[in-house]
This record gives sequence, structure tokens and C-alpha cells, in this order.
Amino acid sequence: MKRADVIIIGSGIAALQTARNLSPDLNVMIITKGNRKGSNSYMAQGGVAAAVAKDDSISKHYQDTLEAGRGHHQEEEVMALVSEGREIILDLMSEGAPFDRQIDGSLSLGMEGAHSTSRILHCGGDQTGRFLIDHLLKTLSDNICWIEEQMVFDLIQDRNGRCIGVKALDRAGAACSYMAPNIVLAAGGTGGLYSSTSNHPTVTGDGMALAFRAGAEIADAEFIQFHPTLLFVEGRTKGLISEAVRGEGAELVNDIGERIMDGVHPLRELAPRHIVAQQIFTQRQMGRDVYLSIDSITNFQEKFPSITDMCIQNGIDLSLGKIPVSPGCHFMMGGIVIDPAGRTNVEGLFTIGEAACSGVHGANRLASNSLLEGLVYGKRLAAWINNQGKHPSQILLEEQEMKKTAKEKETFEVGEFQARMMESAGIIREGAKLQEHLEWLQSIDFQFEEELGNLHPRDVQKYFMWINGMIVTKAALLRTESRGGHIRSDFREEDPAWRKKRIIHRLEDGEMRMWLDEQIKTKIYA
Ligand code: SIN
Repeated sequence: MKRADVIIIGSGIAALQTARNLSPDLNVMIITKGNRKGSNSYMAQGGVAAAVAKDDSISKHYQDTLEAGRGHHQEEEVMALVSEGREIILDLMSEGAPFDRQIDGSLSLGMEGAHSTSRILHCGGDQTGRFLIDHLLKTLSDNICWIEEQMVFDLIQDRNGRCIGVKALDRAGAACSYMAPNIVLAAGGTGGLYSSTSNHPTVTGDGMALAFRAGAEIADAEFIQFHPTLLFVEGRTKGLISEAVRGEGAELVNDIGERIMDGVHPLRELAPRHIVAQQIFTQRQMGRDVYLSIDSITNFQEKFPSITDMCIQNGIDLSLGKIPVSPGCHFMMGGIVIDPAGRTNVEGLFTIGEAACSGVHGANRLASNSLLEGLVYGKRLAAWINNQGKHPSQILLEEQEMKKTAKEKETFEVGEFQARMMESAGIIREGAKLQEHLEWLQSIDFQFEEELGNLHPRDVQKYFMWINGMIVTKAALLRTESRGGHIRSDFREEDPAWRKKRIIHRLEDGEMRMWLDEQIKTKIYA
């Protein structure tokens, strides 16, 4: 058993921003299922939005964020995101973070969907995540200990419910425990629940499932963003084609040459993501193929080096000027409910980044606001923990071994689960299909309070996917309207009666309780 002052689960931008802002007196452990460069953040192409241009302002960035998310926000948190975020970006610049610049030295600012002005900072063209993560990694001090290739499968709580440690499994299936008075979940979203996703394959909502089991409140799980343009080859999505490509002028056309965003939204290709994704999905359902026409973009290869590589690797000849695309799951707007410091309702348990429901994204995240969220909340949480000082922990723990000999359960094939999620709880949902899907999930041999020590290690991942599938499906069934990333074919419009209503889930006495908060309020946890 090892001890630290802070354990961070995950290795994306929020995790690293927390780690580097924690006091060097604190012993910090970062545990990641993959390796330190295996996160969604590392793969981020598009960039970071910040109102740094002379003709921009934090109030414009605030308004665009509210409009994209259809008003389902905690407004004061949105204001904090855009204003604190701007300061953090300026600090990163002065530290030497490698944001792209024009020949004259001014910042190169890109355009993306639903932004009213060019405000997207990027690095290495379309390699923003990689460059930023490399920069943050360089700034970590030696109070950080890395535990890679271990999957946290359970949170350890004392008899008062306080979170005091984690249990993890290594690749060989051996379990070990790590103890700390501060446990930070920065484990990302739920893209891996779906058969088409832009996410790193390791991202299957572990953070949300762990927190739910520990009694944390989960909210807004029905709001899932599908990115409109994933490369689509031989019937499968392969990886992201950044919205920055549309920001540079690429047009969406179908196989008979029609511009598919004509008449759909005044911003056409740069409409909010849920609108573009829905239109591509609808075209594909009508049997049409959809392409990004890149003829008007000069120096495509130079501007988008990693997209160019991905296309070449997948046999796409860019000189023909057309990239085949289809939507895929990209981002979870909801998650574990946090207060402005990153605290959850479970003492000792904190959440930041995509795993958190911070209230800044509403029903649909504005493009390039996610790295910004990780930077803002990572810094805030570190400040809160630093303020508490070292926490004396009196921890007694009985080691519990995973039964490596446990038989695998007959539950589901991961591929089947992902396909069913895509079909029934994907881009366009419908009550009867959601109900049928829920019944399928309910027929699976898992309980909300599984004794994890009795599960075969391979079943733990499936169990987490199942918990998340249940949460998303129940919320999507209950919200009988369309808003942002939640689109119901049987309730096509936004319903004013649902405005600002939030669906919350919590595990109580082994049962999932679900209720409606009538108003989206910022909570303050003790
Ligand atoms: C993109 O490059 O299109 C993705 C950026 C984001 O999700 O904000």
C-alpha cells in the first residue's frame, strides 16, 4: 500500500494543470490507465478558445458559450471560465507555451463553429493537445510520482463515507491500494461507450462510474456531444477531422454535390456542433455519403499536418479535395456534479475536466472550451487543496485481493454494447427505442453495488460501461424535449417547461435514485 497527499486519476490537461499547481510540499501521485501521453487532451487538434484578440471580449466569449449550450448553464461559472481562462492563457504564453503565430509575430487565431469571432489558439497547426501536454509535462516538479498502466477500479471510503484511497489493477490483473486524503478524478468522458467516437479508446467513463458508486451526484448525463466530422472509411470512423478545417472554409457536400448545410442554419458549416452532426446523420440515413470539400483551403498539409497523415494512412487522396466524414461521440457535457472549487458531495473526492459537471457547457459545449475548462478548474482545485495544507490521515485498511480466478460473467460483448448505445442513445433518440435499450441494459447480470473483489478484472471495465449506459439512457428517456446535444425525434423542439431543469442521479441503498432539480444552481460542498 502506498500513500500520498493527493492522488489524481487521469493524465489529461486538467490532471496536469492540477498537479503542476499543487504545492511542492505535497506528495502527488498520478495514476493512469494508459500512459502519460495517452489522453483525449493529447489528441486534441482544434485548440483553446480565449478572448485574447483586440476586437474580442470576455463578454462575447461568454455569450457564444451560452448560445451554443442553449442556456443550460451556471452563468457565473461560464463567466469565470472565460475570464480566468483568458488570464491562464496569457500566463501560459509568458511561460513559453508554443501557440502558433503569424509571420508578423501576432497570434494565429482560428475560427470554429458557433464562435462570433476568430479566437481559437492552436499549436503546431492541428497538434494543440500534444504541444500543450508536452509543455505542461515539462513544468511538473519532482513531488509527482507516476503510476502508469493501472486502472483504478474502486474508491476506498471510511465508515463516514469520506474518500481516502483507491484500488487499482495492473495489466496482469493484480490489485493494489493507494491511500490519500484528496482523491481527484480527472478521468475524462464516456466516448468509448459508443461505436463511433473521436475519443481515445481508453475513455469509457471510469470516473463517472467510480464516483456514482461512491455516492456522488451525477447530472446532465443526457447531453452528449457528437462531433460532426470524423474520418469515415470502409464503414468505420477513424479519427477526428477538426472543426478548424471548416473554420478555414471547408464545405460539407453530399455525393450528388449538394451543400448540405444550405438552409439548415445561417452559420452553415459553422453552426453549433449538434446541428451540423444531426444534418450529416440525417443525410447518411437517407443513403447519402457526406464529404468535407477542402478545395478552397490553401496549404492544407501545412495547416493540418496530423489530419493529413491520418488521411494518407487511411488511403484518402487529398489531391481529390474531398474527405469522407460521419459523426461520432466526442464530449460529455454532464458528469459528476462539482462546486466551483472542484469538490463533490463525497468528502475527499474531487473532479475536474470532462468527468465533471461544472455547469460551463450547458446542453452543448462551445468548440475549444474543453481544454480551457481543464486549465481553469485544475488551477482552482490545486489552490483549494494547497489552502488546506497537509491532512493527517489515520488510515487503517484491510487489503482486499481481486479474485483473479473469478469466472468471467456472461454479460455482453463490448462491440454489441457500443453499437446499441449508438443506435438507441446516440445522435437522434426516440422514446420507444430508449425504453427498449433500457430494458436490455436491465436484463444484464450486474447490480449497482457489485462486490468488485469478486469480479474478473475483464468484467470491471464492462461493469463501468454498464453503469454509465444506465445513467445516460435513463436521463435521455426522462428528458422529453430536444436541447443541445440531446435530440429526441419524438420531441423535436426545446420545451420551455424543461428550461434550466437538471436531471440528477445518485446511488442510495443499492438503488439508482433519479430526480429533477428545478433550477440549475451552483452548489457549495462542505
Ligand atoms: C476540433 O478540433 O474540432 C475539436 C475541438 C473541440 O472539441 O473543442
